[in-house]
Amino acid sequence: MNNLLRKSESLQTPTTWRRVSKAGGIGLFVIGTFIAWLIYYDIYALPGPFDTFRYPHSGLAFSCSSSSSSLTAPVCQQYEYAFPKSYRENNSTVLNILFDPVFRDQSAKKLSGAVQIATDVYDDDPTVDADPQYWKVKFGPFYNYLRKTFPIVFENLQVEIINSHGIVITWEGSGSGDHDTRGSNELLKPILLMAHQDVVPIQQSTLNQWTHPPYDGVYDGDRLWGRGSSDCKNLLIGLLETVEELYKFGFQPKRSIILAFGFDEELGGERGARYIAKHLTAKYGNDSFYAVVDEGGQSIAYENDVLLALPGTGEKGMTDVIVGLHTPGGHSSVPPDHTAIGLVSKVIDALEEDPFDPIFTPKNPTFHEYQCIAQYSPSLNKHIKWDLLHADKSKNSNKAARNWLYRKSLLSRYLITSTQAIDVISGGVKSNALPEYVEAVVNHRIAIESSVDATYNHDLAHIRRIAKKYNLGLESENKTIYAATSNGKFTVRKTSELEPAPTTPTTGRVWELFSGNIRHVYEQLAFTDPNSEYHGKRVIVAPGIATGNTDTKYYWNLTKNIFRYRPGLMTSVESHAHGVDEHILFDSHLQIIAFYFEYLQLINETENFD
Ligand SMILES: *[C@@H]1O[C@H](CO)[C@@H](O)[C@H](O)[C@H]1NC(C)=O
Ligand SMILES: *[C@@H]1O[C@H](CO)[C@@H](O)[C@H](O)[C@H]1NC(C)=O
Ligand SMILES: *[C@@H]1O[C@H](CO)[C@@H](O)[C@H](O)[C@H]1NC(C)=O
Ligand SMILES: *[C@@H]1O[C@H](CO)[C@@H](O)[C@H](O)[C@H]1NC(C)=O
Ligand SMILES: *[C@@H]1O[C@H](CO)[C@@H](O)[C@H](O)[C@H]1NC(C)=O
Ligand SMILES: *[C@@H]1O[C@H](CO)[C@@H](O)[C@H](O)[C@H]1NC(C)=O
Ligand SMILES: [Zn+2]
Repeated sequence: MNNLLRKSESLQTPTTWRRVSKAGGIGLFVIGTFIAWLIYYDIYALPGPFDTFRYPHSGLAFSCSSSSSSLTAPVCQQYEYAFPKSYRENNSTVLNILFDPVFRDQSAKKLSGAVQIATDVYDDDPTVDADPQYWKVKFGPFYNYLRKTFPIVFENLQVEIINSHGIVITWEGSGSGDHDTRGSNELLKPILLMAHQDVVPIQQSTLNQWTHPPYDGVYDGDRLWGRGSSDCKNLLIGLLETVEELYKFGFQPKRSIILAFGFDEELGGERGARYIAKHLTAKYGNDSFYAVVDEGGQSIAYENDVLLALPGTGEKGMTDVIVGLHTPGGHSSVPPDHTAIGLVSKVIDALEEDPFDPIFTPKNPTFHEYQCIAQYSPSLNKHIKWDLLHADKSKNSNKAARNWLYRKSLLSRYLITSTQAIDVISGGVKSNALPEYVEAVVNHRIAIESSVDATYNHDLAHIRRIAKKYNLGLESENKTIYAATSNGKFTVRKTSELEPAPTTPTTGRVWELFSGNIRHVYEQLAFTDPNSEYHGKRVIVAPGIATGNTDTKYYWNLTKNIFRYRPGLMTSVESHAHGVDEHILFDSHLQIIAFYFEYLQLINETENFD
């Protein structure tokens, strides 16, 4: 888009002409943008400003200039293998990490010990200030275990404790600024690697269903079992092991390496990650990190015969909408046609009858994930392939692709669609008394292209209609929309608002190195083992999203490069994360160490790229 203006400016014409042509250029630009924008709304069937007087779709079938699409990257671009110099010089350390039985056993002991310390957290847990002892009893032993198990880290690197139990470990790089005189823009930005210390609880009633007791950390030579083995003590322990291996290897970072471990991610990170993010922002400022890498996304997925590594480059948003209804109540021998429970039920019914529409645009990492599948799958139906590959060019293809994903599975549906789930309802106290207050909570996960407000307004529109029909008042976020009537009034509000995350760029060197290193670790190292399930297979690295949220929601200001990715061979569903029999393939754990061992060296050798 900028090219158009620059070209007209560079013409060596007399000033007046230049002004005229510039004005013409701007005019063309405006018209071009307008048409591009119309086509955009048309292809993706977005509810645009034309919703009220929808123009005939067929009118826009002409193909206008291709100037905007020439900027788009090739479909599912894969990058060169990326690895540090040390690998070419001597690959024995990284191969040891992956394949040496002694290293494997020592590593299993470290992770097993971590699983054996229960760090389970509960929704009604207090704040740290309210009950410091509660937290100390739980996380004190875990901290002591880490100190004992990773002496190199705790004796040689800077360790900061944030809000009592958050841990921030800094391995200061020589290029981080202290002794640098070249000016701040040449300093290497630090990298931030995250994990969390807490785990979700065990339901006592399911204890007898576990193959091995959840806090025994049993390692059977192939798999390691227990709560936290997959989510995500494996990542936390793997990062510490990596740093120790690098230290022993004689590595001296030029780019600072920072590890940050919260302790209440499973509760939303209010006590851990939120404080750590505040600390890091105060210390380093906005946009101060090379990249942030956290758990999440799907490490690897096998779909339509394509083996995918899926670093999460986006995250859906979230909000809870609280629908309350106050009514006069009274004796139930003289009831109105509809009680408050009946009226709130009408709202619930209206919502469930009007699910959100799927949206499939290149803004959503899922779009690129499925274009990769279309590009590389040997088995996917050729019509669906065509539609996926043309979903940004043709309205019909976009629609077909959307419908296919919508019907394929609930999981794929909700990668491209906002959700609604009525998760709580309360009201009514006695069989002969009319309910005076009824409340329902609607939980939403918000599609990448949507927003908290759009989602809220979707619900509000239904409530508005029902309020009007039954002559009820309506208050939305403390603002009166319809005055309360003698029948009562709705009060609607939202809590826990989280917008969809900014999408991490998947062009440029930061992505190239990250994805190239993943390919290298799998194709050139892990899968060279003839015993590996995926021996000789190609790994396609594609951006993805998970349908849940991680602690990264507090880190948006620190960098635009946020990756939610943990190397490994199973999806979190296959690992039974949060469920009975949580476990990992131990190979996956070693792949975490091998990946970070290389990646941290690799980015030590490179610039900031931005
Ligand atoms: C590679 O490194 C290992 C461990 O440091 C060492 O034992 C070995 O001799 C090295 N190999 C070569 C070819 O230099
Ligand atoms: C490791 O290095 C050795 C010696 O250079 C080489 O023969 C071998 O193929 C390498 N292995 C891998 C997996 O790169
Ligand atoms: C890291 O970068 C510094 C500075 O370029 C260099 O001296 C050092 O050898 C690098 N370390 C590794 C392991 O690449
Ligand atoms: C950091 O970024 C946020 C959001 O972009 C902005 O509101 C804030 O003012 C910035 N803070 C500083 C210190 O630049
Ligand atoms: C609405 O009012 C309540 C009670 O006064 C207050 O706690 C809440 O923050 C208000 N909400 C908004 C969105 O203004
Ligand atoms: C980014 O910075 C702004 C301004 O300081 C702040 O209001 C906002 O909450 C920050 N974003 C996140 C995700 O922390
Ligand atoms: Zn987790």
